[in-house]
Amino acid sequence: MEIIVKDSVEEMSKAAARMVARTLNAKPNAVLGLATGSTPLGLYKELVRMHNDEGLDFSQVTTFNLDEYVGLTQKHTQSYHYFMHENLFKHINIPPQNVYIPSGTTDNYESFCKWYEQRIVECGGIDLQILGIGSDGHIAFNEPSSSLGSRTRIKTLAKQTIDDNARFFDSAEEVPIYAITMGVGTILEAHKIILLANGKNKADAVAQSVEGPVTSLITASALQLHRDTMFILDRGAASGLKMLDYYQWIQDKMPDAP
Ligand code: PGA
Repeated sequence: MEIIVKDSVEEMSKAAARMVARTLNAKPNAVLGLATGSTPLGLYKELVRMHNDEGLDFSQVTTFNLDEYVGLTQKHTQSYHYFMHENLFKHINIPPQNVYIPSGTTDNYESFCKWYEQRIVECGGIDLQILGIGSDGHIAFNEPSSSLGSRTRIKTLAKQTIDDNARFFDSAEEVPIYAITMGVGTILEAHKIILLANGKNKADAVAQSVEGPVTSLITASALQLHRDTMFILDRGAASGLKMLDYYQWIQDKMPDAP
């Protein structure tokens, strides 16, 4: 695992955007795995800026989103379809047919989930997966006790997640109870993974993911088993790491590293 600590959310977002741009420059038809939530907003803003100012091209890119609330239509303002359209897709030149987001309104979830997994494989797998992390250590909606080999499926949200996400709805009662989400096993097949986290409320989840045991109780800890994962954190999210000085030392030395 590589741990990068930035002084601000803006710097964290810019560092992640540079990694995305590097991926697209090396492979213009790359497959990106995308996340929603408040954390990647700065990243998407920076990608839109790079598209407008520097010609960052998405015309051959394919994207797969991690998850969606069950029961929200694409037009619902809290659906992840709506979020992605408003914050990224409507501002860049990605062909709409290259955008995949799990459906929250299919009438056959089992076959949809199988099809979603199959499409990822048919597109060559995910080259770069962007992740956030929940305060309970979840990645996508893989709540504590999710199987570390899980695939795309329906999950019941944890109360902590419903409480965390209630800020986006009028009340906690309005937050859907179920989500359709890529599994931990699906995520671990991405070629490269970048997890973003900011704020002190993520410090404990980040510390347990990086330095704790690999456990289904903190599904982000499964990333310890992945061969190319980078955590990009702000100082708040990094503040619980025991080995912070070591990561910082590596980061400072990186230009000279073999
Ligand atoms: P957040 O959510 O970015 O809104 O904090 C992250 C997550 O729950 O994965």
